[in-house]
Amino acid sequence: MKIDGTPYRTIWVDEQDGRSIRLIDQTKLPWSLDIRRLTHVREIAHAIRSMQVRGAPLIGAAAAYGLCLALAEDATDAAMERDAAMLLATRPTAVNLRWAMERMLARLRETPPAGRLAAAYDEAGRIADEDVATNRAIGAHGRALIDAVAARHHGQSGGRSEGRPVNVLTHCNAGWLATVDHGTALAPIYAAHDAGTAVHVWVDETRPRNQGAALTAWELGRHGVPHTVVADNAGGHLMQHGQVDLVIVGADRVTRTGDAANKIGTYLKALAARDNGVPFWVAVPSPTIDWRIADGIADIPIEERPAAEVTTVTGRAPDGSVVSVRVVPTDSAAANPAFDVTPARLVTGLITERGCCAAEPAAMAALFPDHA
Ligand code: MRU
Repeated sequence: MKIDGTPYRTIWVDEQDGRSIRLIDQTKLPWSLDIRRLTHVREIAHAIRSMQVRGAPLIGAAAAYGLCLALAEDATDAAMERDAAMLLATRPTAVNLRWAMERMLARLRETPPAGRLAAAYDEAGRIADEDVATNRAIGAHGRALIDAVAARHHGQSGGRSEGRPVNVLTHCNAGWLATVDHGTALAPIYAAHDAGTAVHVWVDETRPRNQGAALTAWELGRHGVPHTVVADNAGGHLMQHGQVDLVIVGADRVTRTGDAANKIGTYLKALAARDNGVPFWVAVPSPTIDWRIADGIADIPIEERPAAEVTTVTGRAPDGSVVSVRVVPTDSAAANPAFDVTPARLVTGLITERGCCAAEPAAMAALFPDHA
């Protein structure tokens, strides 16, 4: 995506040395665009754990590049397996991490140590490039859903609907910052906006880390997409008053039956959407589908993050410094489950790179016969 006219990905190999990894430090957004240069696998692991990079597809790509840095130091079997396991343990819920490590290791295990470094950069580059292409395809398929609503508005108003945008509600950040580029849930919005369809996005703030308020709002703003940030609990009210045409969210792991894990609070939006007859779509690239499991609530590991993310809020003070302040009594306990699972029965459908399908096993298997 472009920022002030300059195209960026969220992660890339440094053009100067061809080895080190550059990434946008998302903990600094929306206040500043900080590009970090990482040279060691432990720095990549830290970047994933501390959420300098986050979002399921980007976590996978970052770990792939992390393995490149690891191999630059030691390309033996033992070191490679150890460092891959270390990267795999950084965050538990997004299955893209496991997918990327398995794909890297499948290639590297059959490559002699002397050729591993070049093979690793090649494979990580492919993972990154494929993510961009996949998300572009999700955008094209999902755009049809937005355009269908716009056409309905147009028909209902006797052709005078120019001033009425399609209102999409999204949760967390599943935009280009959560991927290598383009995003998943936001890709259809960008595609529709770029094609001239009037879209307005309700952006859930997404406590406790505020990925909606800080990241989704920032990237929509840079792209000129009209949006409004709302408190996490506002979505149900907006739906009751006809102000949401569609919900589109991303996912960290989707079972082969269509249960979808995404940022905590997504499930409540799905319940509100069902109660109000609002379509609830999950944008999901195929590396986010875990074909090995069927029961999302029982089988998807849910990350428990530090309580401090709940007890504090972070923002920018008038003097420009970034500050965290405590908003919970010091003697109160806090818990921080980072994701929840929306059962397939609440999901209208999945938007994948191969098209849209129902969130149920047969439809998913028909779209992905090679994986199912
Ligand atoms: O904890 P995060 O910020 O990594 O969570 C991100 C999300 O929940 C996204 O919605 C999901 O990864 C999909 S990203 C295309």
